[in-house]
Amino acid sequence: MAKIKGRTVSESRVEMAQVVLPNDANPLGNILGGKVMHLIDIAGAIAAHRHARTHVVTASVDRLDFLHPVRVGQILMLRAFVTGAFRTSMEVEVNVYLEDYIKGERRQTSSAFVTYVALDASGKPTLVPPLILRTKEERRRYREAVERRKRRLALAARDHRRYFEKEG
Ligand SMILES: CC(C)(COP(=O)(O)OP(=O)(O)OC[C@H]1O[C@@H](n2cnc3c(N)ncnc32)[C@H](O)[C@@H]1OP(=O)(O)O)[C@@H](O)C(=O)NCCC(=O)NCCS
Repeated sequence: MAKIKGRTVSESRVEMAQVVLPNDANPLGNILGGKVMHLIDIAGAIAAHRHARTHVVTASVDRLDFLHPVRVGQILMLRAFVTGAFRTSMEVEVNVYLEDYIKGERRQTSSAFVTYVALDASGKPTLVPPLILRTKEERRRYREAVERRKRRLALAARDHRRYFEKEG
């Protein structure tokens, strides 16, 4: 089989801005957690699409914390980049920042590791290009992604066994 050409981290990097509108908010005027999750998934999926150049599906999301309330009228800035490309899956780190353009302040409000699986035209998992690691920081992130992947897959296998036991 022909070897797939690798792609660098910067080739698929995503930066996405979104203003928080009243329709995205709860009655207190803060953005709904589900809306932030949706934006994380979109930003992460774009990075995965750019890396794999295929269809992708979200296979899993690691833990997600919401550190600060985000108000209507503020801006959410999402930065997503591939940290690891494996056989058919990729881990993408998505960091979310809240930007108050009146005060000129920006601070991080969430961070997530999302795993996407590349699919071919018939919907089957397909090989992804290797990730070309150019910097020390990228190599460190990759090593950490490998460790997270081990833990994630072990937990998923344990939980899936539980579902099947319940289903009989
Ligand atoms: C994700 C999905 C394609 C995996 O299918 P599968 O039959 O387990 O396929 P495979 O065993 O060939 O695994 C494919 C890849 O998914 C990865 N994977 C499977 N389950 C995973 C999980 N819970 N977390 C992270 N990666 C996972 C595998 O490690 C493998 O990656 P690799 O090739 O890099 O090692 C399948 O479960 C699916 O379609 N899920 C629904 C996805 C979806 O619709 N998401 C939107 C929200 S519902």
